[in-house]
Amino acid sequence: MTAVTIPGLDQAPTTHQRLLSWVREVAELTTPDQVVWADGSEEEWARLTAKLVEAGTFVPLKQKPNSFWCASDPSDVARVEERTFICSQKPDDAGPTNNWMHPDEMKAIMTELYRGCMRGRTMYVIPFCMGPLDDPNPKLGVEITDSEYVVVSMKVMTRMGTPVLDKLGEDADFVPCLHSVGMPLEPGQQDVPWPCNETKYITHFPEERLIWSFGSGYGGNALLGKKCYSLRIASVMARDEGWLAEHMLILKLISPENKVYYIAAAFPSACGKTNLAMLEPTIPGWKVETLGDDIAWLRFGEDGRLYAVNPENGFFGVAPGTNWKTNPNAMRTIERGNSVFTNVALTDDGDIWWEGMEGRPEHLTSWKKRDWTPEDGEAGEPSSHPNSRYCTPMAQCPVLAPEWDDPKGVPISAIFFGGRRATTIPLVTESRDWQHGVFMGATLSSEKTAAAAGKVGVVRRDPMAMLPFIGYHAGDYFQHWIDVGKSADATKLPKIFYVNWFRRGEDGRFLWPGFGENSRVLKWAIERIEGKAAATETPIGHVPTAEELDLDGVDGSMADIRAALEVNLDEWRAEIPLIEEWFEKIGDKLPTSLRDELEALKQRLG
Ligand code: GDP
Ligand code: PGA
Ligand code: MN
Ligand code: MN
Repeated sequence: MTAVTIPGLDQAPTTHQRLLSWVREVAELTTPDQVVWADGSEEEWARLTAKLVEAGTFVPLKQKPNSFWCASDPSDVARVEERTFICSQKPDDAGPTNNWMHPDEMKAIMTELYRGCMRGRTMYVIPFCMGPLDDPNPKLGVEITDSEYVVVSMKVMTRMGTPVLDKLGEDADFVPCLHSVGMPLEPGQQDVPWPCNETKYITHFPEERLIWSFGSGYGGNALLGKKCYSLRIASVMARDEGWLAEHMLILKLISPENKVYYIAAAFPSACGKTNLAMLEPTIPGWKVETLGDDIAWLRFGEDGRLYAVNPENGFFGVAPGTNWKTNPNAMRTIERGNSVFTNVALTDDGDIWWEGMEGRPEHLTSWKKRDWTPEDGEAGEPSSHPNSRYCTPMAQCPVLAPEWDDPKGVPISAIFFGGRRATTIPLVTESRDWQHGVFMGATLSSEKTAAAAGKVGVVRRDPMAMLPFIGYHAGDYFQHWIDVGKSADATKLPKIFYVNWFRRGEDGRFLWPGFGENSRVLKWAIERIEGKAAATETPIGHVPTAEELDLDGVDGSMADIRAALEVNLDEWRAEIPLIEEWFEKIGDKLPTSLRDELEALKQRLG
């Protein structure tokens, strides 16, 4: 066979043989017009953002430096869980919570989709690193994509480009990540601002540590270092190597006595991670600094404690609801520019706006690129998609912890699991021990949000907030959590808490003020660990009464707060069949220790 000549293919700035042959193989299959190796430079950012402006994908903002407004195709706005697959050799290794197809079958289907799919486009090769670059054992990846939007977003969200190519050297290991929007251009065909394909596949080959994505440009489907690598593939690596890859924020809490604590918290998408990660405490003397808002890799340190590293380099935050009161530090981060805003509204003077932001303008261009006035809002047509996002560099966050880039990570004192539940789940519950905490995580439930396609509001089990991200059998994943606890010195393990900021009163109002006021719950948790705060023992775990929380000056009614803290035994009894149904679904691989926890809970509830 004669080698195909594609401009750029032979100008590779590397001698890494496995990388070179993979890039050639993909180029020959997808037949792009040219191949470009992304270097991550400012010059490249300027060139690609200019190209995106030219294509009508980006509109430069006049009111924020080096920032862009972007509207996606209205059909391509969220992760597509129905189209996401774990292609292990055996279905039993994907388990009951994942879609499965045999790798050979999936590869056959996708190879035909990829054939010629980059015609008329540029193929970019993006070397990237998840986690600090100076990690002695860096987790490397290379994403091939035909989307400039992806290259630009990867620059914000990951460490990428030339320094990573240096780390790859001649033969370092990497995860190959192949992405295409799936819309080839015929000669002379006019491109659209947001190319994508009705047919979408987000697929993972865990045994091979390989990712193939087709048809979507949306962040969670297309920025393959994020959910696909750092959660689905990394969770498999973590199982094999004895660590945890989790859907968790990482924050640093500093007490008035200047004692430092690190907390990791797992909430499902659009349930408050980014907000908690950079919260401004309402209680005097306490400070929060941020290390991560979405993903944490937890490994044991030499001292036997669990250390967390955030593999990401940027925030991909939910825009609606973010404002100067709820999340001032996110507002300050985006004010500094260098950001991409997707599916929010554009103001007439060249700024962005979304539902919940201060100062609603009288006229906007909506995310659907239509004229929008407040009357449209009243008629139920929001200016911004509920899952619209800002993509902004972490380094710009004013409360970034200085150790955020330390490959050693930070020792975790507490793990929070939380969901969005209108009833039943109290504001905060402390687990009795690791196994009970794993039970809380494994039975975590939440109302579905707009972060994934499908009906919003339905309560579903979302174990450890990882339902869409566990790269293997959920029963094996629970066992892995139990085993991690068993392998450790129990006195050094983080304490596990279960929180719910979203309990509602009869008229639908939130019972707990949330946001900065969540610092009261952080303080209580830390003081429990220090043996300083009181709690009340209940059938579900240790729950504070209103008197046991620091509520001095709280912005909320005491009756509501008491209702947020209530352990309602009838509601919990009604929860039991739902947990049983969930455990049924997990099947034989459910650890017996979790079945024991359920039996013990039933006993205590009477
Ligand atoms: P993430 O996707 O888990 O990072 O969630 P975000 O922090 O982006 O929050 C998702 C949505 O929940 C946003 O609209 C927030 O304004 C809202 N939210 C976050 N924290 C709270 C809280 O403590 N109380 C209430 N009521 N809403 C919150
Ligand atoms: P989120 O991240 O958890 O901040 O919503 C994106 C996602 O999970 O899709
Ligand atoms: Mn997430
Ligand atoms: Mn977030």
